[in-house]
Amino acid sequence: MNRFNISFTVSNKSYRVGIVGATGAVGQELIALLQAHSFPLAELRPLASARSAGRSIDFGNKKIVVQEATGEAFAGLDLAFFAAGTSVTKVLAPEAVKHGCLAIDKSSAFRMDPHVPLVIPEINPDALRSHRGIIASPNCSTSVALMALYPLHRAFGLKRAFFSTYQSVSGTGADAVAELESQVQAYVAGRPLPREVYPHQIFQNLIPHIDAFGADGYTGEETKMRAESRKILGLPDLKISATCVRVPVVHAHSVSINAEFERPVSVEGARQAIAAFPGAELADEPAKNIYPTPLDYSRKERCGVGRIRLDTALDNGLALWVSGDNLWKGAALNAIQTAEKMIGMGLPLKA
Ligand SMILES: NC(=O)c1ccc[n+]([C@@H]2O[C@H](COP(=O)([O-])OP(=O)(O)OC[C@H]3O[C@@H](n4cnc5c(N)ncnc54)[C@H](OP(=O)(O)O)[C@@H]3O)[C@@H](O)[C@H]2O)c1
Repeated sequence: MNRFNISFTVSNKSYRVGIVGATGAVGQELIALLQAHSFPLAELRPLASARSAGRSIDFGNKKIVVQEATGEAFAGLDLAFFAAGTSVTKVLAPEAVKHGCLAIDKSSAFRMDPHVPLVIPEINPDALRSHRGIIASPNCSTSVALMALYPLHRAFGLKRAFFSTYQSVSGTGADAVAELESQVQAYVAGRPLPREVYPHQIFQNLIPHIDAFGADGYTGEETKMRAESRKILGLPDLKISATCVRVPVVHAHSVSINAEFERPVSVEGARQAIAAFPGAELADEPAKNIYPTPLDYSRKERCGVGRIRLDTALDNGLALWVSGDNLWKGAALNAIQTAEKMIGMGLPLKA
């Protein structure tokens, strides 16, 4: 029995795991995926802000009490998944490390820190070997885009890419999902539409604005897609231009990609590369209306790739479309796969 009086399967190879942000959109998916993956848990410790402390969350048929995330809350944990905001993580992840607890972080707090590995396990698992207690997981739109682009890079050698994203409201968090739903209800009831999360109404709309605008006119999300892709692919000079758009979809992000490669490309070669890559699923039979959609790739582990065709404006270019669950491969799933990969590679969790 652990401190919550709940019996998990405890063996030599089970882990004491915390989730910071357990009450949020990503935290809830982490809890569901830990169960679905039968992650070897000796203890699950849900952590959140003081507002949620004392609340219970469901874990299978058990209820576990949420604790306030303080430095002391990491005592005795082997591993903590961070699914809270950047400022919270900047303070608490180093506290976790001080307690000998590995932090796998979903926020942007440490992604570009040269001492912090930024990892997609199917792409750059060897980066995990150099961790110093914190491992970062990429932005949701970057993860989904790279599930399509990395196998093509391996096949043809990536030269440059253009991303246009179609990002769901769950990418903003639980509040934004509630806002879209309440706007739909208000519209149907003929009431004025409530608006708090986004600068514009999201129902019946598109908002080409994700994160703050920088001096160069790109948003933070667009800059993250460029910088994170470069770091994960190990291509520091890669040319990438992104336009990120919020759409009134609840789950799963989609990305339209136009990419130019070093070597000659073919549609068949691209399809084979995608089909052989573990993080992707080929969904590309246009004559049968088969291509990925966000609904089809919600709550799926693989990202769907389709609409693959020769790009008419680029040399050795391909145009394609990918949809993938921002809360799964874009967040919770990638974090859990990272922990599983470390365990599988026999890497120490302690820095
Ligand atoms: N949503 C996505 O698709 C996605 C994808 C990739 C990365 N991310 C990143 O993952 C993180 C979480 O995103 P989300 O969408 O799950 O957000 P969310 O739904 O708004 O949830 C935020 C979570 O953080 C907790 N929190 C807030 N202040 C805290 C504090 N002072 N101490 C401890 N916990 C605190 C909240 O707890 P309370 O309930 O107590 O307030 C809640 O559990 C963010 O960094 C986000 O950028 C999200």
